[in-house]
Amino acid sequence: MSQFAIKNATRASRISLEKIKKIVAEMAGVAVSVVRIVVSPYRICPLGAHIDHQGGTVSAMTIDKGIILGFVPSGDSQVLLRSGQFSGEVCFSVDQIQLPKHIDKSIGNDIPSDTEECKWGSYAKGALYALQRGGNHLKQGITGFICGTEGLDSSGLSSSAAVGIAYLLALENANNLTISPTENIEYDRLIENEYLGLKNGILDQSAILLSSYGCLTCMDCKTKLHNLIHPPKVVEKNAKAKVPYKILLAFSGLKQALTSNPGYNRRVTECREAAEILLKAAGKEAEPILSNVEQEEYVAHKSKLEPDLARRAEHYFSENMRVIKGLEAWGCGNFEEFGKLISASGLSSIQNYECGCEPLIQLYEILLKAPGVYGARFSGAGFRGCCVAFVKADYAEKAASLVKNEYSKLQPDLAPHLNQETAVVICDSGDCARVI
Ligand code: GLA
Repeated sequence: MSQFAIKNATRASRISLEKIKKIVAEMAGVAVSVVRIVVSPYRICPLGAHIDHQGGTVSAMTIDKGIILGFVPSGDSQVLLRSGQFSGEVCFSVDQIQLPKHIDKSIGNDIPSDTEECKWGSYAKGALYALQRGGNHLKQGITGFICGTEGLDSSGLSSSAAVGIAYLLALENANNLTISPTENIEYDRLIENEYLGLKNGILDQSAILLSSYGCLTCMDCKTKLHNLIHPPKVVEKNAKAKVPYKILLAFSGLKQALTSNPGYNRRVTECREAAEILLKAAGKEAEPILSNVEQEEYVAHKSKLEPDLARRAEHYFSENMRVIKGLEAWGCGNFEEFGKLISASGLSSIQNYECGCEPLIQLYEILLKAPGVYGARFSGAGFRGCCVAFVKADYAEKAASLVKNEYSKLQPDLAPHLNQETAVVICDSGDCARVI
């Protein structure tokens, strides 16, 4: 990881790196110098919203903010964790066989469903579940302290995948397991799809594990092939290469985990229903996901879909096109065009995928009017959290303050609950997750 990314990622934590190391050293009774650190960044998805679970192609990037996990191997099978955000301690043994949460509940196992401890601890247990499912026999637990960037958790930046990956990397490191990013993408999928029961795609974990500073990560969620796209460098006279954009995150104040919101899985089911009808009409037998339907087949048979399903399918096919055009625009450094596509993607999320909510739609509309903004859309699933925008670097501050003012006028009840320091955050792109 570049020095730049380490500095930024660690600066982003609400508690300094030194303090995290000290807490872990005290928890484990070891020297500060032996504490290891995982940095796991949050991600954005400029184009390719809600098509990963259908095998579409998505674009993603990490930002210079995220999760820091300080840890040491515990010397035995015990895992002991504390959090900078949540109260209580999570304690379990890596010898314990983990089962998906819903299965555990139905057999009356001892997972309490609604305590704070359970919610944040379930990602660590999910990581153990995934590693066990992959045939790994862990001997070594970890003692750790986890902490995310102030105000940015549960905000559509995929803090859940960042947390899951942080635990995977720490457990692997403590057990001397060498696991490739591709395998970890699959392990994190097991945490989310199987352990937690969210039917999401592999966008989040691919972004977090594969991204590289300044590049757009392109992931074909069907073939699982990816590539990194660099925009051309802009070098001004007598100056170093300059990144001409900043990433703006505008927070709504709405927080609710995707796993507890039925909206996400309902949309996935609708996409599958649309795919089933289109595949049948085309006389094809395949898994009912929209990437198994060719564009021409969609055009020929879309009239067979009920209006709701037709809108979901329209989002999928139009978003796939926007991703293709967007990758090209990014590769040429055409941020104006890239931004227009992001805003069109945002509109399709509102009109076709119907996943927004009033505060997020308001933020989207405010961002589109803000100075220097290339384009904006909901970040993540769009049911809560924040909107993301690409903005001309020189206009970022101005745009941020306009968004903050306008949003507080439109949402006088929600906006005051936001920390004014982090209501709108200006950031840069980041690197991939790793042990540093
Ligand atoms: C969430 C899911 C992802 C993806 C996005 C929407 O972040 O976890 O898999 O579907 O929503 O693009």
